[in-house]
Amino acid sequence: MDVKAAVAFAAGQPLKIETVQLGHPRAGEVLVEIKATGVCHTDAFTLSGADPEGLFPAILGHEGAGVVVEVGAGVTSLQAGDHVIPLYTPECRNCSYCLSGKTNLCQAIRVTQGQGLMPDGTSRFSLNGEKIHHYMGTSTFANYTVLPEIALAKIRKDAPFEKVCYIGCGVTTGIGAVINTAKVEVGSNVVIFGLGGIGLNVIQACRMVGADMIVGVDINPKKIALAEKMGMTHFVNPLEVEGDLVPYLVDLTKGGADYSFECIGRTETMRQALECCHKGWGVSVIVGVAGAGQEISTRPFQLVTGRVWKGTAFGGAKGRTDVPKIVDWYMDGKIDIDSLITNVMPIEEINEAFAMMHRGDAIRTVLTF
Ligand code: APR
Ligand code: ZN
Repeated sequence: MDVKAAVAFAAGQPLKIETVQLGHPRAGEVLVEIKATGVCHTDAFTLSGADPEGLFPAILGHEGAGVVVEVGAGVTSLQAGDHVIPLYTPECRNCSYCLSGKTNLCQAIRVTQGQGLMPDGTSRFSLNGEKIHHYMGTSTFANYTVLPEIALAKIRKDAPFEKVCYIGCGVTTGIGAVINTAKVEVGSNVVIFGLGGIGLNVIQACRMVGADMIVGVDINPKKIALAEKMGMTHFVNPLEVEGDLVPYLVDLTKGGADYSFECIGRTETMRQALECCHKGWGVSVIVGVAGAGQEISTRPFQLVTGRVWKGTAFGGAKGRTDVPKIVDWYMDGKIDIDSLITNVMPIEEINEAFAMMHRGDAIRTVLTF
């Protein structure tokens, strides 16, 4: 079938809206009509060419929501008409990773997903007979896409696509980091580095679980108002702190953070986030993605004296199980997504959506088809 897609032909070049061909879903696969998709830094990272695993031509996009149109042979958990959120971290419930109960990093389709292909090693997308790669197993910058059944979370039908698509990446990453990875308790003092689309979701989850101090750290004071709306209790601008930031934060939190979250993707702030944690028990979670090849450092003394360094991908969430619950939290008013979606525009304006993200003008831009 013909579908409308924003195609990334080469690194560093603008996306082009094209009519491309999409094949029928094969065994274990599902055809989904994408109704809305967010634009995320990970898409920009790959498009820039800095992603060592980036493949071109490709259809990017990994933060979508839509409706099942057709299912392939053997698909049992979904049927036409179901509403779904694509999962770049699938949940097969069968591999040793899923069965461990210790991780959300399902490996069932990892190899082919990294190659930009469906699990059988082929692509469903083509243009004039030439293969186009899938991306993160999702390719949501197209009005129709094919995904493995295990990479789709079934959600309630009354949830608005142009809001809940954000649960496909940013919301779940931030909220899951707090709930699944750090397991922040009531009364905790928390420090969040970076008040962007990820950090603001960390903040609202800290409020939801009943944290006491919720300290936001950002060099851009324009982020204060929205961060306070999401639950931030104290703001620190590193550019205005006299002397070192770490002792300032330790002092502010009366001995150090019980939990800290790095939501920027810079190795310097990762170190600060660890070192501002409380001696004996503070846990620091790396959420931001640093550039390829970068390394973190600290003195081992920081860990010997009880601080813990962790990282999280997709907020430690098991998508098919956890994503429908987060959709419920949104529909029940427990979490705020609307305030974080600062722009909605048609897919035709996708290059402007990327430009806005680079300028820092948007928290989240959602594209519709
Ligand atoms: N110190 C403090 N804050 C900083 C610094 C710094 N040195 N540098 C940047 N920031 C702030 C920015 O002002 C911005 O508010 O960090 C925030 C980052 O927010 P966004 O650009 O909106 O990024 P976001 O979408 O939240 O993603 C953050 O997570 O998913 C990854 O790839 C993504 O690594 C990125 C990170
Ligand atoms: Zn993302």
